[in-house]
Amino acid sequence: MILNFAHRGSLTEAPENTLPAMEKAIEHNVKAIELDVQLTKDNRLIVVHDHNLTRYNKKTSGFIKDYTLETIKKIDVGSSFSRRYRGITLATLEEVLEMLPEDILLNIEIKNKPVAYEGIEDILIDCLHQYNRLDNVLISSFDHDALKIVQKRAPNIKLGLLFNQKFFKPWEYARNCGLTITSIHPNAKHTNKKLVTESHKLGYKVYPYTVNKVKMYNRLMDFGVDGVFSNNPKIFAHSANTT
Ligand code: G3P
Ligand code: CA
Repeated sequence: MILNFAHRGSLTEAPENTLPAMEKAIEHNVKAIELDVQLTKDNRLIVVHDHNLTRYNKKTSGFIKDYTLETIKKIDVGSSFSRRYRGITLATLEEVLEMLPEDILLNIEIKNKPVAYEGIEDILIDCLHQYNRLDNVLISSFDHDALKIVQKRAPNIKLGLLFNQKFFKPWEYARNCGLTITSIHPNAKHTNKKLVTESHKLGYKVYPYTVNKVKMYNRLMDFGVDGVFSNNPKIFAHSANTT
């Protein structure tokens, strides 16, 4: 089955990574959603991509790590997207877990570089435990050391190797790092038929990011990828198995 991920929820339709973006993705009947997590000053998991708030609210320049959750929850991140979303704030991971149907696979990307979040892995695992969500979840990160910590804490959790460079044999790199991964998350620009075929021979799924045009989507499907990350979940309708 092709498993396409709504990237940061449905970010073309609602402010990225917020609850309305998750709701829109769910409306599209997606089977999988990707989001990013960071830590607030008081060590709460907050769902957000950038390390500072400027893109979401021009009047606010500080780093996520310097704000408490209470302060972050007062910041409007919806108006910069559309007046319709005025007053929308960033969501905690707990809030997303509370509203997300259990059958939707959740890909949580740990944002741990260039800003480092000491202990984010443990906090994340504890949260997933609390919500009984260790099964239908896939953890990824460009910070592969963070994945190693997750693996140590929760050896059965699914891990995706996320990378931006051209890797000849990413599975060998993962093995050398001591990582047991289930999927490979390459940049779509660096994805080719050979990478997909070799990955499949070794039992890894391949989910390239970020794919917003039907032409590229179809090209990757021809390579045999197992799904993609997209800002535009409507393109998934071009795959018979996803809706
Ligand atoms: O996980 C795929 C993709 O989300 C990685 O890039 O920068 O959008 O988090 P970015
Ligand atoms: Ca991401």
